Amino acid sequence: MKAIYTSPIDWLENRVRILDQSRLPDEEAYLELEDYLDVASAITELKIRGAPAIGVAGGYGVALGALKIESAQKNDFLKKLDVVMATIAATRPTAHNLFWAIQRMRKAAEGIDDVDRIKSALVDEAVKIHAQEREATYTLSQFGAELIRDGDTVLVHCNAGPLATAGYGTALGIILFAIEQGKKIKVMATETRPVLQGARITAWELKKAGVPVTLIVDSAAGYFMQRGEINCVIVGADRVAANGDTANKIGTYTLAVLAKENKVPFYVAAPTSTIDPALASGKQVPIEQRKPEEVTHIRGVPIALEGVAVQNPAFDVTPHRYITAIITEKGITKAPFGEGIGG
Ligand code: MRU
Repeated sequence: MKAIYTSPIDWLENRVRILDQSRLPDEEAYLELEDYLDVASAITELKIRGAPAIGVAGGYGVALGALKIESAQKNDFLKKLDVVMATIAATRPTAHNLFWAIQRMRKAAEGIDDVDRIKSALVDEAVKIHAQEREATYTLSQFGAELIRDGDTVLVHCNAGPLATAGYGTALGIILFAIEQGKKIKVMATETRPVLQGARITAWELKKAGVPVTLIVDSAAGYFMQRGEINCVIVGADRVAANGDTANKIGTYTLAVLAKENKVPFYVAAPTSTIDPALASGKQVPIEQRKPEEVTHIRGVPIALEGVAVQNPAFDVTPHRYITAIITEKGITKAPFGEGIGG
């Protein structure tokens, strides 16, 4: 597997180092966290973000919490570990990867009697989750690259690169892989209001990787599709239901409807840790509602009348009928998804 680009999260013995994505692109600042509560806050405050990276951070957060529990008695230790897991689980509700990772951590603690051995099993499992996600995003990028042709302009939304995945990237991983294959690809990136992951992070990552990127406001996507300037749309996902309905950054549904209207293929790329087979459809996906200040302010500067009513859903659900194919590390599943997409 090729080297990944900037790593958003690393395990350093008894600490976690994260790149503070809330400060990009002004500063490339790293934080070293020793307390699981700081990992929980980092997830809530979008210092570490993107569904697969949130899952990896969740695993490391549980491991950090476990290391700090001062109890040699197994039942007492497990009770305290439950509090750690519940705190991490309460950070953000939409990305399935977080709950998938916590579930894996819970299983890793099962069947071991000695508390010190449970602690080392939890650290090992968190490191394994990270390695597997890195591998999964690399493999899915390889599969997805087959869908992109030499000379294509690809529209992306939000940020689904190495920083969002703690690996190779999903939507951006596919683009990076296609470029490594020698294809000439241009990227059009939406700025992604309200907190501008496209402008701040995607443009930064692509510039650093030497990929031609053009930034547009979210509402310009239809203009470019109508003019035939977009060959395909690729987005990541926060949760994919069994029928293929996909929750992703707010505005994804709008792009999918526009893509169908303009006969532009619309691809979703995600590791299988994002698939929630327990959900029959996207209607059941919990959608995170975030604070009004993200809408009324841009980077701390007010842009709206004080006290104005605000709604700020962070994600929307794209029904599967708008999705041309879903790409995971297991391969490409093309629509119609029939019996479902598995996971
Ligand atoms: O709120 P964020 O920045 O965590 O939202 C991220 C997205 O919506 C990404 O598109 C998604 O997590 C896929 S990441 C490969």
